[in-house]
Amino acid sequence: MTGNKGHGPLCHATLAAALIAVAACGGGDSGLGGSEEAPDADMNQASTPGTEAVDPLAGMDPALLPEGVTVAMVEQGRDLFNGGGICYTCHTIEATGGPLAPDLTDDTWINVDGEYLSIIELVKTGVSQPIEHPGAMLPRAGMPLTDEQVEAVAAYAYMLSRL
Ligand code: HEC
Repeated sequence: MTGNKGHGPLCHATLAAALIAVAACGGGDSGLGGSEEAPDADMNQASTPGTEAVDPLAGMDPALLPEGVTVAMVEQGRDLFNGGGICYTCHTIEATGGPLAPDLTDDTWINVDGEYLSIIELVKTGVSQPIEHPGAMLPRAGMPLTDEQVEAVAAYAYMLSRL
């Protein structure tokens, strides 16, 4: 209507100003919330809120637990698997495997007989010469896992194929 030739540049400037304002607000907002999210780095965490939605352990039958293994251990193992133990990076979050590592949810085993002790042993030693995959699995996945943590993550791997 007015034939404003400055329309484009004006909008641009306004947008830029708005972006700066947003950035400024974002920066000054800390402490008002949103800082509650704990990083996943705590390897001893028994249960991570938010993993519930996709929790495969919901259908777990405690009667199938190996001797000496508790539900809490399996849950700790799940959190290690998907966190500090970095197993998910190759085996995937669902543990169904991929190009880098095998499916742990089926009852086909490549490297072990599937018994709890054999899985503990495998996690401790890794797989230096994989049979069906291109790269090695390092001992304890290359992470500083204690024996107790290895047992927990092995318990999780054991139960995955029995859910
Ligand atoms: C760098 C990728 C990688 C990471 C990380 C990794 N794995 Fe593996 N995993 C492999 C490969 C490769 C194999 C051997 C597959 C083969 O022989 O073809 C394997 C094998 C296994 C097996 C034996 C599977 C079978 O069918 O016999 C188990 C159990 C296992 N991994 C558990 C774990 C756990 C638990 C972790 C975390 C502590 C982990 N892995 C981390 C790559 C990985």
